[in-house]
Amino acid sequence: MNNFNYRNGELLIESINVSDIAKKIKTPFYCYSLNHLKEQYTKLDKSIELEDYEICFSIKSNSNQSIIKTFSKLGSGADVVSIGELKRALKAGIPSKKIVFSGVGKTSEEIEYAIKNDILMFNVESISELKKISQISKDLNIKSNISLRINPDISAGGNEKISTGKAQDKFGIDWKSTIESYDFAASLPGIKIIGIDFHIGSQINEIKPFEESLDLLVGIISELRKKGHDIKVFDIGGGLGVQYHQKEKPLDIKKYGKLLSEKLGEIECKIIIEPGRFLTANSAILVTKIIYIKNTETNNFLIVDAAMNDFIRPTLYGSYHEIITINEDKKGNLSNYDIVGPVCETGDYFGKKIPIGKVDEEDLLAIKSVGAYGSVLSSNYNTRASINEILVNNDEFEIIRDRIEDEELINRDKIPDWI
Ligand SMILES: Cc1ncc(COP(=O)(O)O)c(C=O)c1O
Repeated sequence: MNNFNYRNGELLIESINVSDIAKKIKTPFYCYSLNHLKEQYTKLDKSIELEDYEICFSIKSNSNQSIIKTFSKLGSGADVVSIGELKRALKAGIPSKKIVFSGVGKTSEEIEYAIKNDILMFNVESISELKKISQISKDLNIKSNISLRINPDISAGGNEKISTGKAQDKFGIDWKSTIESYDFAASLPGIKIIGIDFHIGSQINEIKPFEESLDLLVGIISELRKKGHDIKVFDIGGGLGVQYHQKEKPLDIKKYGKLLSEKLGEIECKIIIEPGRFLTANSAILVTKIIYIKNTETNNFLIVDAAMNDFIRPTLYGSYHEIITINEDKKGNLSNYDIVGPVCETGDYFGKKIPIGKVDEEDLLAIKSVGAYGSVLSSNYNTRASINEILVNNDEFEIIRDRIEDEELINRDKIPDWI
């Protein structure tokens, strides 16, 4: 993670001491580096040498409007999967004609809202959805732009909870029925075919699954064109892997760019890429305070004030996140700790047997690489507040999401008189 370094024994984010932020902001909180976000976007943009392409930031990875706006100002579009994400994208300034709408369960309300806001296209995931979009569009007297999401039955490797391109997964249309599905789409009155789409999963560090999917889909595009279907847009999804563990070799982004030139240079389509994690994962830390140190016969626990409701990836996916002290001096004399939260679940942990130097209660820790699928997956389990999000820009910072205090949560409950 660039932009997160020690100086004079203190962890900095860009050029601010994390401990100085923690003096003003209640822990735990998410803390993002604006310049990291910009650097990642630029790195990806520079690695792509195609003539006509659009990066559509996948908002599900991080839906904070400041983050969406950061990418929007760099020219990004958006990939959304709900009406809420669509509203956020529009509010953060993404032009509607740069928005694609994916997801297996789009409701009539969502479809109508997207049509009225004139998005670029729906990535359609089933025949039923196709019929529904056609009907709604017909009623509104228009034709809607669509692509079909093709399920190529290709394994993306890694965690099966975030793999989406195998035949048994709920996503997309079986690649073997592509041609008949397009023929059917073309017969519907409210549908205008403009593209084709795939997305095979997340945190993909190998080039091979991308290569296999592109080969398959390029062949399919040629078949579709022979049958008279006008494929002008090819959405190749997201999934670009990043480094969480120092030993992990992330996707080589230059190789990825080269692959796209090699496979898509001559295809005469606008290419859409939907990265989420690649742009945001390493942009943030979760700052948390040690409440108690508890040593038992079998384990040493650091009980911190963040919990699985704030950041669930370790327990949901078994994912690894580096955890460090804010004060570098404390890095000496390492002991192995289980870093756990106050929630009443054994699964409430951020790391197990993590080497940490001498620490005291009240010290701060940073959980790294939490920018993607972090705050978006948070909840209020155990009636815990929603925590602040902070954005750092060189030597200044701002709150980019307010806390929602427990009182506010409690006040949302209603108690009928008849209880
Ligand atoms: C349709 C679609 N596009 C893009 C993404 C973004 O994936 P990633 O964050 O791995 O780039 C996802 C998430 O899995 C997705 O479901």
